[in-house]
Amino acid sequence: NQGGFLSVVVLGASGDLAKKKTFPALFNLFKQGFIPTGDVQIIGYARSKLTNDELRKRIAGNLKPGKNALQDGQAVISEFLKLITYVAGAYDSKEGFMELEKAIASRENVGDGGSSSTRRLFYLALPPSVYPLVSKMVHAHCMNKHGWTRVIVEKPFGKDLASSEELSGQLGELFTEDQLYRIDHYLGKEIVQNLLVMRFANRFFIPLWNRDNIANVQIVFKEDFGTEGRGGYFDEYGIIRDIIQNHLLQVLCLVAMEKPVSVSPEHIRDEKVKVLKAVQPIKDEDVVIGQYEGYKDDEGVPNDSNTPTFATVIVHINNERWDGVPFIIKAGKALDSRKAEIRVQFKDVPGDIFKCKKQGRNEFVMRLQPSEAMYMKLTVKRPGLDMAGTQSELDLSYRERYQDIVIPEAYERLLLDTIRGDQQHFVRRDELRAAWEIFTPLLHRIDCGEFKCLNYASGGRGPPESDDLISRAGLWRRCTA
Ligand code: BG6
Repeated sequence: NQGGFLSVVVLGASGDLAKKKTFPALFNLFKQGFIPTGDVQIIGYARSKLTNDELRKRIAGNLKPGKNALQDGQAVISEFLKLITYVAGAYDSKEGFMELEKAIASRENVGDGGSSSTRRLFYLALPPSVYPLVSKMVHAHCMNKHGWTRVIVEKPFGKDLASSEELSGQLGELFTEDQLYRIDHYLGKEIVQNLLVMRFANRFFIPLWNRDNIANVQIVFKEDFGTEGRGGYFDEYGIIRDIIQNHLLQVLCLVAMEKPVSVSPEHIRDEKVKVLKAVQPIKDEDVVIGQYEGYKDDEGVPNDSNTPTFATVIVHINNERWDGVPFIIKAGKALDSRKAEIRVQFKDVPGDIFKCKKQGRNEFVMRLQPSEAMYMKLTVKRPGLDMAGTQSELDLSYRERYQDIVIPEAYERLLLDTIRGDQQHFVRRDELRAAWEIFTPLLHRIDCGEFKCLNYASGGRGPPESDDLISRAGLWRRCTA
């Protein structure tokens, strides 16, 4: 009970994000003992007229007792559901938020014999268009007078630099930066978090991680399904805003940044911002965008949509470490597989006496999903009587190596960080701004149809022009193994 009674308020409690991500993440924390019964309440707020039990029923289907549970089965689910109550109200209703305040305060029991301090966490599981309104209501009626108030928001933070800055300005008038937690759930992924440790705690990598040794870095995200019913939302944004400008750019920052002074959130985020500022304006010849055939059949997608569901973008970072090293970012929906990985491809060995080139380059691969893994591709002598080289792998598969550990879901980790007040894995306002600065000119050209999508077959590799672009970048060769 560090810090007093905790109220978690999920705004948009009857929606999809709350049902699929927020409540299950809270449940996962609960079943591992991170949210102790007695010191916590969870309140759902939304427009639908629901009873407490109706909300609980909606949530229950997505809760899985799993391996990490302290107790088994249904009992732990019922215990968790008991923590949840519901308040119905509109997002612009003063009365609704006053009702919410009453509900929060009634359990906090501050004063005589009760808690001396309390904690309030507001999770905006809502469309960003209502963030300013809801934030104003929370600010006017529900701020905590006996401890901290924190607010979690999630992308899309605007649609371009101007709209994002406008939103930041509106939220900034109500909350300080240390009250705002901007989620990018990729920062909650195990392998993404490992980047920092791996890069700065291993002597192997420190001297090699630069333009003298690295030929290129590839950051790849693929999904083997299309927008499937989310077309209406997706068409407003497209793959660059949905995946690249946030998730993959965050990964790029962690791959490219200098060593921070310490692991404090501010020091880490200072270094990430420097990387973003060193990214060069994106040139047309460094971009391929595509749309899968059949995308326009999805509900809500207009027939003349030029929204990309696929993009390859070559990013150049103009600093001493990375000058001349292309960062190849590729993301697409409806492709041949589902995976996300980072591949660091090293330059050829100078004065090669073993014909290493034939075997393929040294590569260091970090697989975010599926099945977290890190492996190094390297040339070794093929076992046997001859002296031939072959490519092999030094392999760390998390599933095999850490059999007893259940890797936490990104949302679970990020919620716990918010409760603990650790902003390391959240996006700071200046980071967000710098990220939008990189992509806004390109996005505007796509939006007005100046930059056109190429078609690609659903279930394939994306437009062939993407492979051409990557080979034209000149420094990438497919490994043979
Ligand atoms: C979300 C995007 O942020 O990330 C989705 O809006 C995408 O379009 C999802 O499917 C991918 O997340 P994950 O964790 O499944 O890779």
